[in-house]
Amino acid sequence: MYNKGTIIPGLAIFVLIVTSPLWLNAFMTGSTVPKVELPQGGEKQCVASATEMRANHMQLLNEWRDDVLRDGNRVTVMVDGKVYRKGLQMACMECHTNKEKFCDSCHEYASVKPYCWDCHLTPELAATKKETH
Ligand code: HEC
Ligand code: HEC
Ligand code: HEC
Repeated sequence: MYNKGTIIPGLAIFVLIVTSPLWLNAFMTGSTVPKVELPQGGEKQCVASATEMRANHMQLLNEWRDDVLRDGNRVTVMVDGKVYRKGLQMACMECHTNKEKFCDSCHEYASVKPYCWDCHLTPELAATKKETH
């Protein structure tokens, strides 16, 4: 019959070899998913749970844009008792003020480059515009 003494270690070694590109890569680059800087202004909640945001923030942004553009009116969203106007600058960046250490650090890792910032302002740019105008 089977010899447990060799099959189990054999399996373990097999699994290690098959998955080695994954964990070796994580080990050598010192990271899996980057640690992003969460809001520093005391906010504890996002517009949805963190898990849901990680998976679905792109769709949520599209829905928001449609809500705003179709309804003409600014639609609002309530987080932790505070009202925000639905918008990239007016909600997301209100809490996630550091685009580089939040959105960008994760997007670099995932190799995505949202083109949103061609038109939408980051908090830093918005501040300089206010100063100069
Ligand atoms: C070509 C320019 C342009 C690009 C690129 C662009 N937008 Fe917009 N977006 C606009 C304009 C114009 C409005 C309408 C602003 C208003 O009604 O005040 C808008 C409105 C929105 C709104 C609703 C209100 C607001 O001001 O945030 C959301 C959300 C939004 N865009 C998300 C995105 C996302 C996400 C991306 C990237 C995937 C993106 N947009 C790329 C021009 C652009
Ligand atoms: C009221 C402040 C606030 C607003 C508005 C907000 N966030 Fe958040 N966001 C947070 C906080 C706080 C967390 C951490 C929540 C946690 O860990 O449970 C978070 C978590 C996240 C995460 C998960 C990060 C991770 O890996 O742990 C993503 C992605 C995210 N937000 C994107 C967005 C986007 C995109 C918008 C706009 C559509 C937005 N957030 C609007 C406060 C906010
Ligand atoms: C925890 C990691 C993480 C954080 C933080 C994060 N994103 Fe993303 N984002 C992703 C990943 C991964 C994708 C690609 C998802 C896919 O293609 O299915 C993505 C895609 C997007 C897209 C769609 C781009 C495209 O070309 O399809 C938009 C828009 C976007 N993110 C906006 C934001 C904004 C704005 C913030 C900061 C407020 C943010 N994200 C923070 C991980 C993150």
